[in-house]
Amino acid sequence: MIGRLNHVAIAVPDLQAAAAQYRDTLGATVRPPQDEPDHGVTVVFIELPNTKIELLHPLGDDSPIKGFLEKNPSGGIHHMCYEVEDILAARGRLEAEGARVLGNGEPKIGAHGKPVLFLHPKDFNGCLIELEQI
Ligand code: CO
Repeated sequence: MIGRLNHVAIAVPDLQAAAAQYRDTLGATVRPPQDEPDHGVTVVFIELPNTKIELLHPLGDDSPIKGFLEKNPSGGIHHMCYEVEDILAARGRLEAEGARVLGNGEPKIGAHGKPVLFLHPKDFNGCLIELEQI
């Protein structure tokens, strides 16, 4: 059911410093910061030949990234995003298997303008999973 790895997201305490490190030290292609008010984050996408890295920084006071950075002050891997062809079919299969979809269970529009869902990390080996319909 899941397809390609779309991106790995890393929560970072200093978005500018992290973007500069990927650009200057690691020599990657770094996109400009994008505010995502619906998700409470500012993101910077790093384009790699086979996938993307999404640097996440809190936007607003009730950002879902805030608590993560309090627990991991120097940053850390926040989620993995896998591509699916049909997000509602994927949700049906996962719920039938007992997996928990976060939030109200309805897909939201993600950073790439495509529908996304998040799955409970406790159901997936401690890893928060994002599904993105391609
Ligand atoms: Co993501």
